[in-house]
Amino acid sequence: MVTGASSGIGEATARRLAAEGFDVVAAARRRDRLDKLAAEVPGIRAATLDVTSQESVDAFAASLDRCDVLVNNAGGAIGLEPVAGADVADWQRMYDTNVLGSLRVTKALLPRLVGSGDGVLVMLTSVAGLVSYEGGGGYNAAKHAQTSMTEVLRLELCGEPVRVVEVAPGMVHTEEFSLNRFRGDDAAADRVYAGVPGPLTAEDVADAISWCVTRPAHVNVDRLVIRPRAQAAQHKVHRV
Ligand SMILES: NC(=O)c1ccc[n+]([C@@H]2O[C@H](COP(=O)([O-])OP(=O)(O)OC[C@H]3O[C@@H](n4cnc5c(N)ncnc54)[C@H](OP(=O)(O)O)[C@@H]3O)[C@@H](O)[C@H]2O)c1
Repeated sequence: MVTGASSGIGEATARRLAAEGFDVVAAARRRDRLDKLAAEVPGIRAATLDVTSQESVDAFAASLDRCDVLVNNAGGAIGLEPVAGADVADWQRMYDTNVLGSLRVTKALLPRLVGSGDGVLVMLTSVAGLVSYEGGGGYNAAKHAQTSMTEVLRLELCGEPVRVVEVAPGMVHTEEFSLNRFRGDDAAADRVYAGVPGPLTAEDVADAISWCVTRPAHVNVDRLVIRPRAQAAQHKVHRV
């Protein structure tokens, strides 16, 4: 079960897990994109899900008979304003999607992950959840919260047959992440990746997720930080 599977990392992860032999439920709001994906890839089923709506999460959970792997991927950033100029509504949306969205879906599916006897919960956080940067305020806060929730879950589930994995990517050039961050401004979105030799692709992250999920049941990859070679740290990006 992959949330936010209509684009980027979520879509690549759904494709990759299907190729690994999983029956994948690909969920997001844009059903047309999911239906296309499901029609193209055997082993993928589309489901409509808005992680900010408890009603939608409940209806979605009721439609599943089992869940062995949950990838909480739906999320993203809005804006790059300094804290002093931040829009409270943007921060609320980021918190609602990245943090509370993951909470709603996790709460709904945890009994099934435990019941599977070898559940895996993957949380897509970010290096933004580990290191803060100017303009990152609302996204940093949301991703730090998601990282904390993941750590707490691992502690609380110790002894249960569920692995709790955090995958924290650095710069990934996906189709929509920066476009959403800059509210549809193509040029601003393109500048994020300008001159960077080889930002990560969605497939690179899907490969990392797949590796974590397919380790033996007793092996828990706590946190996997993955960056492009050109990004040694948040403030250290090589551009040509
Ligand atoms: N790209 C990066 O540089 C990067 C780096 C580190 C971490 N990440 C994290 O990786 C995850 C995926 O990012 P991405 O780059 O693949 O972004 P993306 O291409 O913008 O994809 C985001 C996905 O989330 C879904 N989504 C958004 N709001 C949702 C909601 N309310 N309910 C259900 N689904 C929702 C979107 O689908 P719908 O609009 O169809 O609902 C979309 O499929 C995010 O959590 C992001 O924070 C990204």
